[in-house]
Amino acid sequence: MFTTVERTARGVRVLDQRKLPLEEVYAELETAEQVADAIRSLTVRGAPAIGVAAAFGVALEATLASDLDAEAFDRKLEQAAATIGAARPTAVNLSWAVGRMLAEAARARAAGLDPRGIAASLEDEALRIRDEDLDACRRIGRHGAELVPGRATILTHCNAGGLATAGYGTALGVVRAAREAGKKVRVLAGETRPLLQGARLTAWELLRDGIETTLITDGMAGSILRRGEIDLVVVGADRIAANGDVANKIGTYPLAVLADAHRVPFYVAAPLSTVDPACADGDRIPIEERDPSEVTEVLGARIAPRGIVARNPAFDVTPARYVTAIVTERGIARPPYTRSLRALLAAAVPP
Ligand code: MRU
Repeated sequence: MFTTVERTARGVRVLDQRKLPLEEVYAELETAEQVADAIRSLTVRGAPAIGVAAAFGVALEATLASDLDAEAFDRKLEQAAATIGAARPTAVNLSWAVGRMLAEAARARAAGLDPRGIAASLEDEALRIRDEDLDACRRIGRHGAELVPGRATILTHCNAGGLATAGYGTALGVVRAAREAGKKVRVLAGETRPLLQGARLTAWELLRDGIETTLITDGMAGSILRRGEIDLVVVGADRIAANGDVANKIGTYPLAVLADAHRVPFYVAAPLSTVDPACADGDRIPIEERDPSEVTEVLGARIAPRGIVARNPAFDVTPARYVTAIVTERGIARPPYTRSLRALLAAAVPP
């Protein structure tokens, strides 16, 4: 297995996802600013992985500043949290993780700890966030595997795998757990224009696992669904509103509508850290607009004429009515989501 993100003696080490699958190289990030840059540039990407990288980035900056006096330390910490927290707007795991780190700093400060003590408690909290994500993915996998028939072709979009989380994955966690349960699963990976997370990342990690995978372009999904070749669709999420509307990689919404039209179940697999109870519905989810050059170029090579105007919203919102179920680490939410998600958020954490 690979390690998506980890805290090292020098800083935060991430597997550079811009370079996969052609090169397998790690980037060593040594400041909060570098962590924010890595999140912005998609060197590290995927909602839960962004949250873990953010937590490690805040811990790193706290440790670097731990010899300062209390006032200067607090200023550095706030600056780091603000810079990292603003790196990308859609995945709520980012602000969730930064918020958890700031709450831990406040708790440690109130307990009378000095900057060194606060930094140590932040390092521990970041490791907890990482470990909890890994554990959540395994639980999501186990719950989701129950929805997978004994023999199934599963369509997925973007990359919601080990690369997008602390490991194991959400949507791909369901695939992995189904296979571990002895089911015969086959994956259709949508290539996911413009940045090809499906072709580059999902294909790479599923092949490494020996899971039968076929790559398709985004435009092929409709006719393959119409031919009855897909048993279920499973995707991840960047933010789930309180009513069950789901923001995920651009191109997810058309898949949900197509799945509905062909009566194929459409599942979303995500940890509860992706649910934003403060966001009443999908219209309130901020959608990141990225540089149009990501559309006019492929892997740095220009494919469209100079002067063409291009759009580049990185995410879309799938209304809750198209979502058959949402698989979380505490169980499966079914419509109406306002009630089922609230119940799962309030449920006790399983042992
Ligand atoms: O722009 P990206 O690559 O960060 O977008 C990632 C996605 O949309 C994933 O599907 C989502 O974060 C779920 S990851 C478990």
